Amino acid sequence: MGRLKKTVVLVGMMGAGKTAVGTQLARLLGVPFLDSDEEIVKAANRTIAEIFERDGEPFFRTKESQVLNRLLRGTPCVLSTGGGAFLAEANRSMVAEQGVSVWLRADLDVLWQRVRHKTSRPLLRTANPRETLRSLHVAREPVYALADLVVDSQADLPVEQMAQRVRDA
Ligand code: S3P
Repeated sequence: MGRLKKTVVLVGMMGAGKTAVGTQLARLLGVPFLDSDEEIVKAANRTIAEIFERDGEPFFRTKESQVLNRLLRGTPCVLSTGGGAFLAEANRSMVAEQGVSVWLRADLDVLWQRVRHKTSRPLLRTANPRETLRSLHVAREPVYALADLVVDSQADLPVEQMAQRVRDA
């Protein structure tokens, strides 16, 4: 434990594999794994979908920033973030100061295959979720590209090997 100087912050779209890869990466590095969505859910005692529904997205984003701030100040770890977390400039600054950001980049088709049967993501509860995912993907890619490192999240690569790639990067 404790070889890591800064928290590794995984950013990228829903379905990029941030949680799956992050869990393995933390194991490889011998540090804790944390997930910003999970921390928000624990603190609010509600699901992400319920928070969006009852309190609205701006409330969720405020909580997300607070959680990021708190976690980034803690012991260095691997931190998986929700797909929208890196979009706010204030969040990016916090990450830049206190962590190393890694964008897990994946093609739209890969993302879609991973999220299409899951109903837990409120932003994809639209009439045409694939189109919604596509437009978020297009709009967000230039922002994710501001991350310190980019690692391609390939559909055919086992999650352990993906984690090794991130560690090597
Ligand atoms: C969001 C992604 C979700 C979650 C929320 C909003 C987004 O996390 O934070 O539904 O804005 O892309 P995942 O990227 O883990 O699915």
